Amino acid sequence: MTPLTTQQLAETARTYCFPNYGDRDLAIVSGKGCRVRDAEGNEYLDFLGGIAVNSLGHCHPAVVEAIRAQAAELIHCSNLYLIDPYVRLAERLCRETGMKKAFFCNSGTEATEAAMKLARRWAANTRGDGHATIIAFEGSFHGRTYGSMSATWNKKVREGFGTALSGVRFANFNDLESVDAAWGEDVCAVLVETVQGEGGVNPASHAFLTGLRERCSRADALLMIDEIQCGMGRCGYPFAYQGGHVQPDVVLAAKALGGGLPLGGVLAGEKACDVFQPGTHGSTFGGNPVACAAALAVCDIVFDPDFLEAVGEKGCHFWGGLGGLQREFPELIKTIRGLGLMIGMELTRPGAEIVKIARRHGLLINCTADKVLRFLPPLTVEQSDIDEAVEKLHAALKEFEAQANV
Ligand SMILES: Cc1ncc(COP(=O)(O)O)c(C=O)c1O
Repeated sequence: MTPLTTQQLAETARTYCFPNYGDRDLAIVSGKGCRVRDAEGNEYLDFLGGIAVNSLGHCHPAVVEAIRAQAAELIHCSNLYLIDPYVRLAERLCRETGMKKAFFCNSGTEATEAAMKLARRWAANTRGDGHATIIAFEGSFHGRTYGSMSATWNKKVREGFGTALSGVRFANFNDLESVDAAWGEDVCAVLVETVQGEGGVNPASHAFLTGLRERCSRADALLMIDEIQCGMGRCGYPFAYQGGHVQPDVVLAAKALGGGLPLGGVLAGEKACDVFQPGTHGSTFGGNPVACAAALAVCDIVFDPDFLEAVGEKGCHFWGGLGGLQREFPELIKTIRGLGLMIGMELTRPGAEIVKIARRHGLLINCTADKVLRFLPPLTVEQSDIDEAVEKLHAALKEFEAQANV
């Protein structure tokens, strides 16, 4: 295929692609480690990492090899048959989390859908009808299909699509009193992110997660933790909730799980691991052999304790650099928060313009919840890359301030 220029791609996309991703004017054509190149050959430091997907950077040799080897053996096979990488991955993730059984799908939103269905069916089996309510939280994001979007806080995601799924009740994040106020006999599950990603990089406090665990145990409801963005080593633990020693009943994974291939997973503990019987739930592509083989390669690397320790150290190093920027731009930078290599910098003003300027300086980041610059670099990032990113961000912030003062 003759490569197209960015301009050609942009024009064709404007004509033939749904406009739901806006008017894009950057065409990424290749990547290696934490750097990508555009169609004109310009290089960027990628500190967004496919929104927490490229945890091993771009085209990590172990992932490339796993994909190559599996693709040469078997690319797809129905789940009516046993698939080696699917079964191995289920075992691997269960061992890592203390969960009992796993189900694989293709994305985060499908993992959420499956978990919501699981909770409702479990409650119907154990307590009868009338226990279908799921508590979700202000600031949450769980996906864009009907069930998951109904559990997503941002109105933009939910509005204009007709009636949302009934039986989702929102409480305030990190606020147990609000959870108590939302609770009722009808609650079958609590769905919570350990670190809210789209909501602005908000970590759940240890007391909050422990409090949710206690309430779920007391009321016989499932604690379902969405680790789709913050899991798979991102926060310095295999899954971020493990930092707080809270044992959930259900864990959701996706994004980084498949090493860049579409893969989502639901892991369930003792209570709910046998709820889905034949005919109750399934997926044609879910747990595809190539995606699962890539995931096994990812697990081998990111669950290594030394690797996880290094993620924590790199996070501290990055935090230090961002702290220096906060001291230099106190009027602009309100706070820095996050865990491991999932870091948010809350600004006093909207951050979209800074994202654009940073890109001109060769740094890819994004802005979430309007005012939070979000950093999700590959976990394989080097300290020198982090220093370079901080320098580029420094230049972008200076330019932004200079523009604002004109
Ligand atoms: C915490 C969380 N849950 C669910 C999702 C949905 O995942 P997907 O986009 O793969 O459907 C996302 C995506 O950003 C997410 O961050």
